[in-house]
Amino acid sequence: MKTIGFVGGGRIVRIMLAAWAKANAMPVRVVVSDADEQVLSRLKQQFPSIETAGADNLKPAAQDVVIVAVHPPVLKAALGPLAPAIKPDAIVLSLASTFTIAALSGMLGGFARIARMIPNAASVAGAGCNPLAFAAALGAADRDALATLLAPLGACPVVPEEKLECYAVVTAMSLTFFWYQMAQLAAVGRATGMSAHEARDAVARMAQGAGAVFADEALSEDDILDLIPVKPFAAMEAQMAEAYRTTLSAMFEKIKP
Ligand SMILES: NC(=O)c1ccc[n+]([C@@H]2O[C@H](COP(=O)([O-])OP(=O)(O)OC[C@H]3O[C@@H](n4cnc5c(N)ncnc54)[C@H](OP(=O)(O)O)[C@@H]3O)[C@@H](O)[C@H]2O)c1
Repeated sequence: MKTIGFVGGGRIVRIMLAAWAKANAMPVRVVVSDADEQVLSRLKQQFPSIETAGADNLKPAAQDVVIVAVHPPVLKAALGPLAPAIKPDAIVLSLASTFTIAALSGMLGGFARIARMIPNAASVAGAGCNPLAFAAALGAADRDALATLLAPLGACPVVPEEKLECYAVVTAMSLTFFWYQMAQLAAVGRATGMSAHEARDAVARMAQGAGAVFADEALSEDDILDLIPVKPFAAMEAQMAEAYRTTLSAMFEKIKP
């Protein structure tokens, strides 16, 4: 059984711990550090089996799998001092965009046993899409061990490292506006007479069905868009397409290595 260290204990750590708890797959030892003591005490309240380490990042860094869960702007400063604490046979898993395996290895004094994952928040329900990329130094047994550890989060497809930032925009960031739209739709449901439960359930089922249809590549995207003749947002579609193109392309340009 591998022990897990989280450097940073914010939202994505809560999401991963919730996925493991839901699957009855909580690792036997989880050590979490964070700059914010309140974040740690909330996490400990929700997941009493974890150990918190205050702001001492060296404690999680000494575990078998070291998961780097801080934002890219602070990553370099957080990671550099950890190199001496990392065990030679540990695996470092970074959840951040922008910093390549080569860059992370450079920050860790040449440590090579590194993987990267772009998690998505649907992992909280075990239904995430969390693309993974491995350094060449990780062998089949290491890759299998990570895949087993991460399976409760949902799908973890192995992708070429240079595609991770594409996924960051398409699968991770997108939930921010998809869930917003789903909440708006549920509000319309409530306003038109549904109970809160009926509205949530109806929107969730609609989204599941929409996903199933989109996954069927026998239908072209045009075929799918033509399944319904009515287009209530037709006048706004060009504006919506422009918003996707400009906002998300700019985001991609900002996060790509
Ligand atoms: N949430 C998602 O769905 C998602 C999806 C894809 C990727 N990710 C990636 O996951 C990483 C973490 O994101 P998050 O959503 O968990 O963000 P978050 O909720 O803001 O958590 C980050 C935590 O790290 C703490 N921190 C900052 N500097 C630190 C340091 N030097 N040492 C230890 N802890 C430090 C922060 O404390 P302060 O607030 O006091 O600075 C904060 O509590 C990011 O790289 C993000 O891009 C997240």
